[in-house]
Amino acid sequence: MRKNIVAGNWKMNMNLQEGLALATALNEALKGITVHCDVVIGTPFIHLASVSNSIDTTKIGVSAQNCADKVSGAYTGEVSAGMIASTGAKYVILGHSERRAYYHETPAMLKEKVIQALASNLTPIFCIGEVLEERESEKHFEVVKSQIETSLFELSTEDFSKLVLAYEPVWAIGTGKTATAAQAQEMHAFIRQTIAEKYGNEIANDTSILYGGSCNASNAKELFSNSDVDGGLIGGASLGVDKFMPIIEAF
Ligand code: 13P
Repeated sequence: MRKNIVAGNWKMNMNLQEGLALATALNEALKGITVHCDVVIGTPFIHLASVSNSIDTTKIGVSAQNCADKVSGAYTGEVSAGMIASTGAKYVILGHSERRAYYHETPAMLKEKVIQALASNLTPIFCIGEVLEERESEKHFEVVKSQIETSLFELSTEDFSKLVLAYEPVWAIGTGKTATAAQAQEMHAFIRQTIAEKYGNEIANDTSILYGGSCNASNAKELFSNSDVDGGLIGGASLGVDKFMPIIEAF
């Protein structure tokens, strides 16, 4: 069965002390309560080890936001999947639209990053989503399908089954303009169908597909109530316990 997941993506926010304070406060808030989803926080690289050592990682999964497309060696400034795993992190966000747009990450590079992440037993949270112009010209399904096919469809069934997907329409990220619940459900169902055509219904039904883009305490419940929306990837609203907890509790 697929899991419900609420994952925070801190992006490039929080220095080490601020990040540790946020992670430990979230850890406190989750103590002694039952939640109905897995909780993940995606921190900058510098936080991974300290955060993992300061929280109950059986309750909060720790995620990186990127990894190298190579194993090791002379790649100055890069951080490998193996290094991430050695900190105690269990997830890595890959293919975020900000990495595709600002750092020119291509489908071929992302394919390699997914392979590296899986080889280090990290769960990739693989992001897909169209820009506004693509939606307005009704190319959104085609674009999303191509993003999935070009980076993921050479994986074996076993490897594909280890992925989490996140549909993040670029026009909804950080804009306060969320996709409607109907738009999210329509695309999530399409993504699941695309997976089913390649890997079969069982794998498709077991794949968690998260929604991201201006998801917050006031719209999370409606978004998550859709049958194909298995949680959220949360940017701005993951930067405070007061904003993040109600999203977790939307399940
Ligand atoms: P916001 O929630 O700030 O719109 O960001 C979404 C996102 O990009 C998560 O990866």
